[in-house]
Amino acid sequence: MTVTYLLEYMEQNKTAAYFSLLADKITFNPEEKSVWNKLNRNIPNTKRRRSYPAVKIGRLAVNEDYSGQGLGTFILDNIKYVFSNVKRLGCRFITVDALKTAVPFYELNGFQFMTESDKDDETRLMFFDLKNFIAD
Ligand SMILES: CC(C)(COP(=O)(O)OP(=O)(O)OC[C@H]1O[C@@H](n2cnc3c(N)ncnc32)[C@H](O)[C@@H]1OP(=O)(O)O)[C@@H](O)C(=O)NCCC(=O)NCCS
Repeated sequence: MTVTYLLEYMEQNKTAAYFSLLADKITFNPEEKSVWNKLNRNIPNTKRRRSYPAVKIGRLAVNEDYSGQGLGTFILDNIKYVFSNVKRLGCRFITVDALKTAVPFYELNGFQFMTESDKDDETRLMFFDLKNFIAD
């Protein structure tokens, strides 16, 4: 169950980018204790859980005609803003199964690896802690 958003460049009658979002959660994995400890460090003891709500980026693509102009970052910043400031529901993390070719893009945007076990896979599970996002 995903919701897909299109960014339309009306004057040129083109889709500039699209992305989709779905509900997700990050769950404690005993084999990834160091990541879990790092992730919990920013969460007060009384609020610590075995899993935390997240929003997952299912798809994100920028039309090649507009790539490298900050549009992907603009979309991520908007997702960060909406889920950290527009408090319609409780959500602590953004997650994504990042295509290997897009991993540097997500790293530049503050995402971290959830595990090292997928380092040779075509996609890598990454997360962003919304606590780290301070909207201007
Ligand atoms: C990945 C993608 C969404 C990036 O969108 P974009 O609008 O071109 O990205 P931005 O212009 O906001 O780039 C932000 C920074 O990330 C870097 N970057 C973007 N894509 C990159 C990539 N594939 N590899 C390395 N760096 C990348 C940019 O150089 C820029 O760095 P800078 O701030 O130092 O200049 C876009 O290239 C795309 O649609 N790729 C194909 C689909 C895809 O891989 N989607 C992700 C699926 S998980």
